[in-house]
Amino acid sequence: MHSLFQTLPTQAPIAVPTASAELELVDAVVRARLVSDVTLVNQVSNYITSAGGKRIRPQLVLLFSRALGYTGPERFELAATVELIHTATLLHDDVVDEASLRRGRETANALFGNAASVLVGDFLYSRAFQMMVSVNRMRVLEVLADATNRIAEGEVLQLMNMHDPDLTVDAYLRMIRFKTAKLFEASARLGALLAHADAQAEEACANYGRSIGTAFQLVDDLLDYGGATLQLGKNVGNDLREGKATLPLLVAMARGNASERTLIRNAIKLGEVTKLAEIVAIVRRTGALDTTREAARDEAERAGASLAGLPESPARDALLELCVRSVERSF
Ligand code: IPE
Ligand code: IPE
Ligand code: MG
Ligand code: MG
Repeated sequence: MHSLFQTLPTQAPIAVPTASAELELVDAVVRARLVSDVTLVNQVSNYITSAGGKRIRPQLVLLFSRALGYTGPERFELAATVELIHTATLLHDDVVDEASLRRGRETANALFGNAASVLVGDFLYSRAFQMMVSVNRMRVLEVLADATNRIAEGEVLQLMNMHDPDLTVDAYLRMIRFKTAKLFEASARLGALLAHADAQAEEACANYGRSIGTAFQLVDDLLDYGGATLQLGKNVGNDLREGKATLPLLVAMARGNASERTLIRNAIKLGEVTKLAEIVAIVRRTGALDTTREAARDEAERAGASLAGLPESPARDALLELCVRSVERSF
């Protein structure tokens, strides 16, 4: 069962030049905090974290705190905290989405089962809360409590929207802001909080996070049609199999002819992955992938513009570069 997946590369961070050494420190905190007396907790949590991942959310904590002048050790604790929250959502999300491939490996649910994934996801969530308490700042707790609550709402919204070809673009955007952008927003905000930035600077950071997080999910959704499994480390076509009406499909339905529209509508209603090749062709022909990438570029530009009031620094440059990388990525 293992060998098929062992041929796939594990995922590397989208590293900005200044951040790689610091990201290793974050990884060391993650590893240290995962330790448990319960064997299965260690097995599952090490399995998913050792597969890598792009580590974008911890980079936001590190870069914003640095950009605003804070370089103390608590940034590593909070960077690791957001990565653990993210990892918990992945464990849960792969159960809900019945996914079989993540970070170039078999998903934890495929290998250890749904029960283990849900329960170890809960362990990671609660460990993340133990870590954020150690920073001893009520605003930090508030930001992360609000973010995790919103993410849960976003995942439930997604569940409610499954198999609905009449989903509006606005409803889709609201859902991705909740399920994905909120943690990016919280990560950026934590950087500002660590630096004791004023309310205006904190809002600028939060706006950056919200926009880049939205751009990031738009690209994730386009790569599900326009990407390659080997590069992504997760299976393309998953969204269609789950009956998710993401922006590439919403645009293709709006622009396609009547029979193309019917084909996509039925595929969303039934989760018809056998029609994937035909649907990818329609999505491409109608320019829906380009339109989705453009929407992501617009969001990323908004993110970049949010940085205007921050002092010039290598960290700010790295945040600008991250806007480009998040949109132009192919994994
Ligand atoms: C995956 O996030 C879930 C989404 C919000 C699209 P990432 O693409 O950041 O996942 P890893 O951490 O790199 O695996
Ligand atoms: C991920 O959404 C959002 C969260 C994990 C909260 P997706 O379901 O689109 O992410 P992937 O494609 O499985 O990584
Ligand atoms: Mg998923
Ligand atoms: Mg996805």
